[in-house]
Amino acid sequence: MLLWNEQFATGSRELDFQHQTLIDNINELETLLALPSPLPRDCDAMLSIVSFLERYAEKHFACEEHCMEYFRCPCRDQNQTAHNNFLKLFRPLKNRPTAEAFPRELVHSLHAAVKEWIEGHMLKVDSQLKPFIKGSHQETETSFLRLG
Ligand SMILES: [Fe+2]
Ligand SMILES: [Fe+2]
Repeated sequence: MLLWNEQFATGSRELDFQHQTLIDNINELETLLALPSPLPRDCDAMLSIVSFLERYAEKHFACEEHCMEYFRCPCRDQNQTAHNNFLKLFRPLKNRPTAEAFPRELVHSLHAAVKEWIEGHMLKVDSQLKPFIKGSHQETETSFLRLG
């Protein structure tokens, strides 16, 4: 389980909330993956979480990239490249044969990769926003940070 801690903080309540939402869903996926004999509805729930994670991450990335541009954060290019790489993690699952049974191994490895990625990325890249947001007199919770 991934637990929120202050080292992940970006200085924006909205971005931190979005990260927490990603973490909650990654943890929920972990709980379902640990079931010894998942029911069809558990498998459906796992695939729903995977698709939610991809869609939500895409929206979050757009907000965060906008925010890094706005505050001229020096790591903005690094952030964008990392986001593009994150979205590639979903490809093996999306490209699987459609008629296949529940792709447990693919979901398992996707979960491990996403969990490791998000933790490292929040610590090393997203948290670099903090001094820029903190040192700014601008309104930080501006409309571009909110997901529709
Ligand atoms: Fe990021
Ligand atoms: Fe982020």
